[in-house]
Amino acid sequence: MSTRKPYVGGNWKMNTGRESGPALAREVASGAAQHRGCEVAVFPPFPFLLAVGEALGARDSGVKLGAQDCYFQPSGAFTGEVSIGMLQDCGVAVVLTGHSERRHVLGETDAIVNAKTKAVLAAGLECVLCIGELLEEREAGKTDDVNERQLRAGLAGVPSEQMARLTIAYEPVWAIGTGRVATAVDAQDVHRKIRVLLGSLYAPAVAGATRILYGGSLKASNASELLAQPDIDGGLVGGASLQAAEFLPIIAAAAARGG
Ligand code: 13P
Repeated sequence: MSTRKPYVGGNWKMNTGRESGPALAREVASGAAQHRGCEVAVFPPFPFLLAVGEALGARDSGVKLGAQDCYFQPSGAFTGEVSIGMLQDCGVAVVLTGHSERRHVLGETDAIVNAKTKAVLAAGLECVLCIGELLEEREAGKTDDVNERQLRAGLAGVPSEQMARLTIAYEPVWAIGTGRVATAVDAQDVHRKIRVLLGSLYAPAVAGATRILYGGSLKASNASELLAQPDIDGGLVGGASLQAAEFLPIIAAAAARGG
């Protein structure tokens, strides 16, 4: 059994509303309180951070408030952007960087992902750095190369002592929102390679302690098999995190893996 505590994040993406967001948070908080062996975070849209944070706090659930993105500059003329200080002001504990939709829909480069990752960690927050290959990259046999490039670039300049606050999410882009899920064997193989790579960038103890989450059409019905793999330490969940009845069993499956 690994010493890595299981971790499940619910990435709500551009979904929920002023009332439905906090309502979902209350349901998740109540349910997650039964599974303290799993760390849980939810990532609501920016406008609902405060209300969702209040809903989580009222339940004293231990569920962390997360942000889906941030800007790496502390303040200034960056219309539409949200600074890490503003997120901290709203009670955010953890920030996603490098999500595939930011990379491939919004055009974020490896350099931007790296700047954001470094800024989140320097501010003392936790960071979930997302990596993963496109379908055409997978079909061209480039999965490992893409993950290596994104991981090396994303972590460039991140000191070892900050790695305790860094989690990796491996999200094969072809599996996100498509219903196509990586097989447990394939996902485990990629996770193991990511851990080996971490071991070449940092000390073996850091590689052994860093959590690597799987994301991409994770749901209640496939979570147990994926989350039972030795190098899959939890999940980053999109669609299935929008309903507590679908999300909570994933948390239960992660908690069952122990850590
Ligand atoms: P789905 O679970 O909807 O495939 O989304 C995964 C994801 O992108 C989580 O960040």
